Amino acid sequence: MTETAQPVEQQTSPLEEGLGLRRTPDPCTLVIFGASGDLTHKKLMPALYALMYRRLMPTRFAIVGVARTEGNDDSWRADMEDAVKKYARDGFRQDVWDELAPSMRYVSTDFADEGGEDRLEQMVESCEQEKDLGGNRVYYLAVPPPAFPTIVDALGKRKDREGWTRLIVEKPFGHDLASARALNKLLWAHFDEREIFRIDHYLGKETVQNMLALRFANGIFEPVWNRQFIDHVQITVAESIGIEQRAGYYEQAGAIRDIFQNHLLQLLALTAMEPPLDFTAESVRNEKVKVLKSLHTPGPKSVVRGQYGRGFVEGEEVPAYREEAGVAPDSVTETYVAAKLYVDNWRWADTPFYVRMGKRLARRETTIALQFKRAPHPPFEETATEGLRPNVLLIHVQPDEGVSLAIGAKVPGQGMQIRTVHMDFLYGGAFRTGMPEAYERLILDVMLGEATLFTRADEIEEQWLLVDSIVAAWQRDKPGFPNYAAGTWGPPSADDLLHRDGRSWRRH
Ligand code: BG6
Repeated sequence: MTETAQPVEQQTSPLEEGLGLRRTPDPCTLVIFGASGDLTHKKLMPALYALMYRRLMPTRFAIVGVARTEGNDDSWRADMEDAVKKYARDGFRQDVWDELAPSMRYVSTDFADEGGEDRLEQMVESCEQEKDLGGNRVYYLAVPPPAFPTIVDALGKRKDREGWTRLIVEKPFGHDLASARALNKLLWAHFDEREIFRIDHYLGKETVQNMLALRFANGIFEPVWNRQFIDHVQITVAESIGIEQRAGYYEQAGAIRDIFQNHLLQLLALTAMEPPLDFTAESVRNEKVKVLKSLHTPGPKSVVRGQYGRGFVEGEEVPAYREEAGVAPDSVTETYVAAKLYVDNWRWADTPFYVRMGKRLARRETTIALQFKRAPHPPFEETATEGLRPNVLLIHVQPDEGVSLAIGAKVPGQGMQIRTVHMDFLYGGAFRTGMPEAYERLILDVMLGEATLFTRADEIEEQWLLVDSIVAAWQRDKPGFPNYAAGTWGPPSADDLLHRDGRSWRRH
C-alpha cells in the first residue's frame, strides 16, 4: 500500500468498526517465521486481510514471510491469496487484496545457516528503506519450539538499530516449568519483557474480553461475585474435532498442555481475579497472577483424564484416538481432562471451580457458568419449585456468543408453579455485527504495543507449576484408555467427580 492509495470503500457499519476508533499503529515490518505453516494460512493471513479490509493496518507496512519451503514473493502471495479466500471471515475483495499483496515479501531459508539470516536482514532493510518504516519490527514466531533458539539468537544480534522491536511467541510455551523457564531466559537474553508478547489466542476472543466488561462495567455483578453467593463455577472447553493432522504435536502435549495449561487457566484467572486498578497490562496481569498463585487441586482424585475411543460425532463414525494417523497404538496421551480446583483467597475459599476440556466431545462449546446458591428460604410449597434449578450466569464464549441468566419464573396459570427461564443477551441480536477473530485483535495490539491481552512470564510459570503437579501424579499409574466414546461428554469418572460433591455438570 502506498500513502496515496485511495481508501478501501467501507462496507460495514461504523459500529462493527469499533476497533477502527483506535489509534493507528506506527509504520512497521511484520516478519512471520513459519510463513508456509498451518497457522499462517488459517489464522494470521486471514487476520491481516481483515485488518486491511477495515483500514486498521499502519499507513505504511511490509509483511515478510520466512519459511523453509522453496518459493518467492509471487508464489507466497498466490498461496496466501488462496488461504484468504478459504479462511477469511469477510468475502474476498480484489481491491483489498491488491492493497495488501504488494507489501508482502518472501524469504526461503531454514535459518540454521547464516546466509539465510543475512538474506532476511537485507530483505527487511530494503522494505524499511523503500517504505520508510523507521526500523520498527514485529517478529512472529509461528514455528515449532525447537526452532526458537536459533531464531531468537539471530534476531537478538540485530537489535541495535533505530525503531522498536516486538516479538510474538506462539504456544506451546515450553513443555513443563523447567523448559518454560529456560525459554524465558533465552528470550530475556535478547529482549526486554516489554518486547515479548506471548500469545494465548483465547484472550483475543471478543467474548473473553467481554467478561471484563461484564464484571467491571456493571455494578450489579461484583457484589455477588464471591463465595457468599456463588456455589461453584464450571468452565467447559469442549471440541467436537479430533486432533486433525497434529499427532506429532498432540502426542507430546495432550489436553493438559494443549488447552488446560493455557486457555483454560486464563479463562479461570479472568473469572476469579480481583478488579484491576486500570486496564493496563501490568494491572490486569498482576491480578491474574495472584489467582494463578492461589490455585490448587485438592489431590490426584480431583483430576480425571480420558482418551476417546471410536464413536459418532455429528452423525459420522470417527476412529479412536489410538487409531489416528501418527498416534501410538498404546498411547496414554489424554484427550480429555476434568478437574476440581480451588482458588485459596478471601473471595473464593471453599468454592470449587470445576473445569473440563476435551477433543471429540458431543459438540463445540466453550462456556463459563457461575452457579449461585439457592434462595435461603423460598416461601412456596415444595411442589411449586420442583422444576426450579439454581440461578446460573452463563457466559457463552463460543459458539452462540452471549450471556444468559437462568432465573425462576412463575408459570402462567392459577396455581403457583415456578420454572427456570433464561434472560439472554446474544451478540448477534444486540450488535448485528460480525465477531472479529482473536488474531486480528492480537496482531493489532502488538503493533500498538499493548500487552494487556498477552501472558506475562510469571503467569506462564505459575500455570506450568500446577500442570507439573498434576502430570507428576499421572506417572504413578497407567490409565485404562480409551474410557469415553467419541461424541459423548467424556468419561463417567468425570461425572463422579461432581456427584461426590452432590453436584453435576451443567446439562446440555
Ligand atoms: C489451540 C489448540 O490452541 O486451540 C487446538 O492447540 C484447539 O488443539 C484450538 O483446537 C481451539 O481454539 P478455538 O479458537 O477453535 O477454540
